[in-house]
Amino acid sequence: MTTDNQKIIAVFGPKGGVGKSTITANLAIAIAEMGKKVIAVDLDLGASNLHAIFGVRDTRHSLEDFTMKKVKELSDCVTDTNIDNLGIICGGDVPGIANMPYQQKVKLINNLSTLDCDVIVLDLAAGVSNNVIDFLFIADTSLLVTTPEITSLLNVYSFIKTSVFRRLNFHFKALKSIELLELLEKAKDSIENPSLATMNGFLEAAAIIDQRASESAKKVLTKFKPYIVINRIKTPNDANVGTVITDLMQRYINILTSVIITIHEDQCVGKALSMLKPVMIAKPSCAFSLDVKEAAYKIMD
Ligand SMILES: Nc1ncnc2c1ncn2[C@@H]1O[C@H](COP(=O)(O)OP(=O)(O)OP(=O)(O)O)[C@@H](O)[C@H]1O
Ligand SMILES: [Mg+2]
Repeated sequence: MTTDNQKIIAVFGPKGGVGKSTITANLAIAIAEMGKKVIAVDLDLGASNLHAIFGVRDTRHSLEDFTMKKVKELSDCVTDTNIDNLGIICGGDVPGIANMPYQQKVKLINNLSTLDCDVIVLDLAAGVSNNVIDFLFIADTSLLVTTPEITSLLNVYSFIKTSVFRRLNFHFKALKSIELLELLEKAKDSIENPSLATMNGFLEAAAIIDQRASESAKKVLTKFKPYIVINRIKTPNDANVGTVITDLMQRYINILTSVIITIHEDQCVGKALSMLKPVMIAKPSCAFSLDVKEAAYKIMD
């Protein structure tokens, strides 16, 4: 967890290749341009490419060096980007780092708040691995990135549901509440147990078993209110798909209300990549950059 004046923003999503790293990098730049000191961290461990989006070649130290104790401080892994106010921590590409042992992960999580910056932006791997869930729930703000195709949307809903279930599972395990773990297991089958199909239904049933545990679970979930980012929109209709997701979320996981952010499909993104420059620097006024800047203002508001 961060100190009062430091903010952690996590960028995540169910699918690969939807623009998580591109958005992380450019959002980090947009926030740095607002005068905040920012560090972008590549947590797509084992498949890191955030540095490439920044055009950074000499990464010197990576997260792997920190977890393997080759460097003492996490701050030793920060690489300069040549952009004012902005550093990055690269992931490292050693096979196996993606399955970082729990103790190393806790050490990393504890050390994030020691970084000398106002904002930390985390680029997470696709999917709902335990790594993703753990980093996601230490964030103050999260951005769920998807594209407008209907297949992506269905993924998003089941992804959020799985994230919430995993988080509750973790919470009830920490509370050693076997009854609530059993109730959670039942809630997974919404056809057999329709009264547990919505999150409110579940929390009501949980409160009968253990009022305090139900209240604390509610608090955990209230904090998880991801912005829904629809990336690569091509038509005005594409922009509407965000409401499909938020409707689903409100109906079934009704403690969540999310703000929708839309980002246009823009050829400048690919062009900037081939120039080894982030698009926000190469084309600060293109549609993509303007959308990301607007998102940065919303998030930092
Ligand atoms: N708004 C956009 N317009 C055009 N191209 C885009 C846009 N957003 C992302 N891309 C392109 O999509 C590709 C995938 O983007 P990116 O690597 O950021 O996705 P990712 O979600 O981080 O993928 P992975 O899960 O593999 O890490 C890149 O080639 C990127 O340039
Ligand atoms: Mg990525």
